[in-house]
Amino acid sequence: MPKTIIAGNWKMNKTLSESVQLASDVVKSAGKASPGVELVVCPVFTHIEAVKEVIKGSPVKLGAQNCYPADSGAYTGEVSGSMLKAIGVDYVILGHSERRQYFHETNEFINKKIHHVLAHGMKPIYCVGELLEEREKGITPAVVTEQIEKGLAGITPDQMKNVVIAYEPVWAIGTGKVATPEQANEVHLLIRNLLVKLAGEAGKEVTIQYGGSMKPDNAGELLAQSEINGGLIGGAALKADDFLAIVSAK
Ligand code: PGA
Repeated sequence: MPKTIIAGNWKMNKTLSESVQLASDVVKSAGKASPGVELVVCPVFTHIEAVKEVIKGSPVKLGAQNCYPADSGAYTGEVSGSMLKAIGVDYVILGHSERRQYFHETNEFINKKIHHVLAHGMKPIYCVGELLEEREKGITPAVVTEQIEKGLAGITPDQMKNVVIAYEPVWAIGTGKVATPEQANEVHLLIRNLLVKLAGEAGKEVTIQYGGSMKPDNAGELLAQSEINGGLIGGAALKADDFLAIVSAK
């Protein structure tokens, strides 16, 4: 059975003190929210160390929202996987649709990041998902298949055990338009079959999160679907009560 993982993608939100407060509120209730669910918080780079101090000794894990696939060098403005590993990061969100859209990240480039993060002993949360126009054209399966095959090219079955996938239909992110549980599960099933094709038995153990307007009032039915193994939460992760209500919905 894949592990259930619920991650909060704080995006470019919260001051340093607000991040510390939010992390401490999450830690306070994390234990009783839902045993057996792994919780991850992903603040902006500059707040990671402070948040790490707050979650120390708790079951809450630390995530980053991006990284550059080289250890060091002339890459102005970037942060490497080895730097993130050195400060205790466990998970790195990669290929988020906002990075694909605003920073023109391709499947091939994200593939390099996934290899880099795995090589440094962290777990990538690899985001895939179709645009509204792609869904309307009926090409969701082709888009997601290409993202999975190119993004995960060269990943061994052994490495696959440390990969997390987030299926995030782009039209559902931050819009309040959530995919129906059936729409989401259909794509999750497609992803599961692709992972098994790529990695055999190891593909059956990969956590596949849903992301896109997941909230306390819709989380229960999404998380009840056979192939939905958690969530990548944006807006609702900015309030500890909402985030923990989603966790309890599992
Ligand atoms: P949302 O964001 O929950 O605000 O839709 C999800 C995400 O972008 O990861």
